[in-house]
Amino acid sequence: MKILVCGGAGYIGSHTCVALGQLGHEVVVFDNLSNSTRVAIDRMAELVGRPVAFIQGDIRERRDLARAFAGGVDCVIHFAALKSVGESCSRPLTYFDNNISGTITLLQAMEAAQVSRMVFSSSATVYGNSEQVPVTESAPLQATNPYGRTKLIMEELIRDYSASQPGFSGVLLRYFNPVGAHPSGRIGESPTGTPANLMPYVTQVAIKRREQLQVFGGDYPTRDGTGVRDYVHVVDLAEAHASAVRWAMTQQGCIALNLGTGCGYSVLELIRTFERTTGARVPYRIVERRPGDVAELWADVSMAREVLGWQARHGLERMCEDAWRWQLNNPDGYQVA
Ligand code: NAD
Ligand code: UFG
Repeated sequence: MKILVCGGAGYIGSHTCVALGQLGHEVVVFDNLSNSTRVAIDRMAELVGRPVAFIQGDIRERRDLARAFAGGVDCVIHFAALKSVGESCSRPLTYFDNNISGTITLLQAMEAAQVSRMVFSSSATVYGNSEQVPVTESAPLQATNPYGRTKLIMEELIRDYSASQPGFSGVLLRYFNPVGAHPSGRIGESPTGTPANLMPYVTQVAIKRREQLQVFGGDYPTRDGTGVRDYVHVVDLAEAHASAVRWAMTQQGCIALNLGTGCGYSVLELIRTFERTTGARVPYRIVERRPGDVAELWADVSMAREVLGWQARHGLERMCEDAWRWQLNNPDGYQVA
């Protein structure tokens, strides 16, 4: 199959392209490199053992997309989005334009090219401040910031479009907390500036690039007072995309699926597991809660198991080991060869 992977040079996209390439699919990466680099594409090719086609382009540009669809495409995976919650609050229009306008233009290009299968990167952020755990796909949806609103609207655009097109299939994948890296240590998450998420911050503290981790809140109603999340290995996510593409190729309609492990771990549990499995130390200090955070969120993952036959294989130890190998081998992410 020929799969157009929009945003394929990024963190989750690169792991997905490797998984698809290893399954023998033809992958075309389409990315404007606004949050990624060509080095990732070279390393994907190295892992797959053959060149990976790359088109530098923007999903908001019809002409760029026309080039991408020119050679025929069986399915689109749509990772291309801006994803910083904080930045979305200060620059909402940038997020609306990139994420929402980009998705509309991409759907138009798909229609023009008669491509009717899409796998879309959504997020557990669409559940907003849901206090009900584990969260099922039928839980109420809510946006708590402009980034989350774009994900919610993108889901709705794809759902409405799908309903208007009898032959269309759309798979909305709601990721919980993607972490870890490819076991080779060649591709991984390369945040610019100060990491906003827990695992990259932990690995940067462990390698002594940052002094101390701030644990946001020690007084949540959880087993040790710190926030609980459903961390899922990025390689498991990559495999879920391959299963979602298979679903899209054979089924019609639009479905939303949670992707997580179904287990919640607290911040302190993650730190302890990281220290135990890597031998590295993670000094931390408990500080005020971070505004907007919920106490605990983890997924009901039964639907992905039933529909896709997928379930996460890697536990928290493997997530920590692989994140650490990536950090050790690439102290500055992709900035250092
Ligand atoms: P990422 O930033 O590493 O990857 C996104 C890629 O899309 C980047 O390579 C970027 O250059 C590209 N891109 C952005 N806008 C584009 C545009 N207009 N045209 C072409 N390319 C564009 O992010 P990621 O962590 O790999 O996330 C992938 C997707 O998953 C995103 O849609 C994100 O919102 C979603 N998601 C991520 C997480 C997470 O914690 N990483 C959680 C839930 C959902
Ligand atoms: N945390 C810290 N210190 C840090 C960073 C995070 O204590 O330096 C804590 C948070 O308070 C939370 C947990 O670690 O309890 C996980 O935080 P992340 O920022 O890694 O992940 P979130 O669950 O807050 O957010 C993630 C994505 C969002 C998405 C959301 C959906 O980053 O984009 O999941 O649930 F919207």
